[in-house]
Amino acid sequence: MGAKNRRIIATSALPYANGDIHLGHLVEYTQTDFWVRFQKMRGHDCLYLCADDTHGTPIMVRARAEGITPQELIARSHEQHLRDFTDFEIRFDNYHSTNSEENRAFSVGVFRALESSGAVVTRKLPQLYCEQDALFLPDRFVKGACPKCGAPGQYGDACDACGQTYAAEELTDARCALCGQAPVTRDSDHLFFELEPFRDFLKAWIPAHTAQDVANKLLEWFDEPLRGWCISRDAPYFGFEIPGHPGKFFYVWVDAPIGYMASLQHWCDRHGQSFDAWWQNPEAELVHFIGKDIVRFHCLFWPAMLNVAGFKTPDQVFVHGFLTVNGEKMSKSKGTFVKARTYLDHLNPQDLRFYYACKLNGTTDDLDLNLGDFVSRVNSDLVGKITNLASRGAQMLHKSLGGRLGVMDAEGRALWQRACDASEAVASHYEARDFSKAMVVVRDLADAANQYFDTRAPWSLVKTDPEAARQVMTSTLNLFRVLAIYLQPVLPAYAAKVARLFQEPAYLWRDLGKAVEQAPISPYEYLATRVEQAAVDRMIEASRAPAPAAPPPPAPPPPAPPPPAVEPVRATIDYDTFAKADLRVGRVVSAELVEGAEKLLRILLDIGEDRPRQVFAGIRKAYDPATLVGRQVVMVANLAPRKMRFGLSEGMILAAGNPDGALFVVSPDAGALPGATVK
Ligand code: MSP
Ligand code: ZN
Repeated sequence: MGAKNRRIIATSALPYANGDIHLGHLVEYTQTDFWVRFQKMRGHDCLYLCADDTHGTPIMVRARAEGITPQELIARSHEQHLRDFTDFEIRFDNYHSTNSEENRAFSVGVFRALESSGAVVTRKLPQLYCEQDALFLPDRFVKGACPKCGAPGQYGDACDACGQTYAAEELTDARCALCGQAPVTRDSDHLFFELEPFRDFLKAWIPAHTAQDVANKLLEWFDEPLRGWCISRDAPYFGFEIPGHPGKFFYVWVDAPIGYMASLQHWCDRHGQSFDAWWQNPEAELVHFIGKDIVRFHCLFWPAMLNVAGFKTPDQVFVHGFLTVNGEKMSKSKGTFVKARTYLDHLNPQDLRFYYACKLNGTTDDLDLNLGDFVSRVNSDLVGKITNLASRGAQMLHKSLGGRLGVMDAEGRALWQRACDASEAVASHYEARDFSKAMVVVRDLADAANQYFDTRAPWSLVKTDPEAARQVMTSTLNLFRVLAIYLQPVLPAYAAKVARLFQEPAYLWRDLGKAVEQAPISPYEYLATRVEQAAVDRMIEASRAPAPAAPPPPAPPPPAPPPPAVEPVRATIDYDTFAKADLRVGRVVSAELVEGAEKLLRILLDIGEDRPRQVFAGIRKAYDPATLVGRQVVMVANLAPRKMRFGLSEGMILAAGNPDGALFVVSPDAGALPGATVK
C-alpha cells in the first residue's frame, strides 16, 4: 500500500426510527466502524456518516399509537439510537436525520433533475385505503387470504405459505391490519421513476461496484423490462411533500439514501468543508455498507438517481449477510431477538465486537452468533490468550521489577519482529473486510507469545536472574503491544488502555515498528474479563417476549431535544437552571457488584445526612469496587430518585468519559467534607 492519502466516505444504512437497535443491526454498524477506524489508523481521511431513517407510514402509525407526534418519536429514537451506538463504541463522524432541511433540499433537487430528464411519469394506481384509520395502507398493513392458495392471515405483498407474490388488492377478504376493517380501493395518480432507460448504464455499473454474487443476482432482473418504481405516496404521510404535486409525498426510500448526502452536508457545514470536495471529488471514495435485504435500493434506484442528477455514484456497495443466533433466525419467543440495550445491561460491548470480528469475512454469508461459542471465544482467546499476556507481564513487572521495561532478549525480539512483519497482511485483511482473518493472525501471534513466555518461566527466573526476567517481560509486553495495535479498530477502548499502559497516545498503524524499551509502564488497568454463561442466560431471559396484552404502551420519556450532531452543540442554560442542581461531596461507604447488572455498582455515599444515599453507578467496568471505598466523589443529590430493578437510586455520581469510553470518577481535592456543596 502506497503512502497516498485517501479520502473516503463510508456509510452504514440508516436505521428506521421506529425500532430499537438490535444485535442484527450491529453486524453492520460494527463492521463499518472496524473498517473506518482502520482507515483512520492508516492516516486516511475517512468519514463515517449515518442518520436515522425517519419517514414513512410505520413511523406515523407508531407515533399515533403512542399519542405523540412523529417528530417527538423520531427525536426520542435519535437519542436512543445514538446512545446505543456510542455504548458499543461505534463512532460516527456524523449521525444526522432524514427529517432535516439538508435532506429536504437534496431530495427536491434530485427529484427536479429526475423530472426534467423525463424519467418521471404519472400513472393511475388503485390503492387500499382504510376509512377508519384515514390511511392509505402499505402492503404490510393489509392482511387477508392468499389469492393463490387461500392461506389466511397473509400480508399484502407475498404469501408465507406458498410464496406467491401479488398486489394487496388481490387478497381475498382484505383487512386493515391496524383496525380489522375492510379497506376501500381508491384510485390515485402516482409518480413513477422509469428504470428501463438506465438499462445499459446499470448493466455496466452493477458488476463494477459490488461483489460478483450480488451483481449476478441483480442482473437476473435484466432479462425482462425493468419495472418503473413508484416514488410517491398519498397524504397522510410523514415525509417531504413533492414540489409541484400537492398532497403527494416522497416514498421513504426516495429520501432515505439521499440522507447520506444530507449527513455529509451537515458535517461539512460544521467543519468548514465543501460537499463537492468529498462527494463530487473523483479522487474521493464513496462506499456503502448494507445488508443483503436492501441491495435493490442501493444498486438499482440509487445509482440511477445519482446519475441523472449529476452526482457521483458509489464506488463500492459492500453487502453483508444476516445475523442468526444459535443457527436460527432471531426470535422473540426464544429470547434471541436481543436489543442492543439489553445486551449492554448484561454483557460487555467489546466482547460482541471481538466476536463479530472473528466471524465477519467480507462476504454476503449469514453470520451466526452461537452463544456457547461466544463465551468460549471471548474467554479462551480474548481473555486467556491475548489479554493474559499483558496482565501477567505488566503485573509481574510492577510487583518485582519496579514497573520498568528493559530491552528485549534475542528470541523475544525475533518474535516481536515477526509480529510486526505481519502488519501488511493484517492491513490487507482489514481492507478487504475479512476481519476474521485479521483475528486469526492476532490469535496465532498470541499463541507464539504465550509459548515463549511459558518456556522462559519469568516467574521463577525473577528469583534467580531478575534482569533476564525483565527482558522476557519486555519482549512479552512489546509483543502484546503489537497485538493491541492490530486489535485497535475492533477494540478501541481496550487499545486506548494499552496505550496508557505504555504511556503513549492513541495508536496509528505506523507505531508498529517501534519497540518500547527502557521505559516505565503505568499501572495495569484491567482490559477484559471472562464472560459468565449466567450473564448470557440472563440476557436471553430478559429478551424473551413478555406475555402479550399490555395495552397502554409505556409512557414515553420526556420529549428529546432536537437531534444533536455527533459533537453535540449543547443548548445553553441560564444560571438559575444550573443552580437547581444540588451537587455535593460524598464519601463512598461501600461499593459492591450488582447481581444481574454487568455495568453497575451499588454504592452507598455519606453526604452528611443521617443515612447514606444509595446510588447505582454504571462504572463497574472502570473500577474495582474495593478501590472506591473511602474515596470522595461528587454527586447530584437532588436528582429525582429512580426505581431500578435492583433498588432505588437516589442520585448520580459525576464521572468524566473519554471519547474512547474510559471513565473517571470526579473527586474533590483532599479536605472537602462529606455533604459540602459543589458550585
Ligand atoms: N431504513 C432502511 C435503510 C435505509 S438506507 C438508505 C433499513 N433500516 S433497518 O433498520 O431495517 O436496517 C438497517 C441495516 O441493518 C440494513 O442494512 C439491514 O440490512 C441491517 N440489518 C437489519 N437487521 C439485520 C440482521 N438481522 N442481520 C444483519 N443485518 C441486519 O433497512
Ligand atoms: Zn384500519
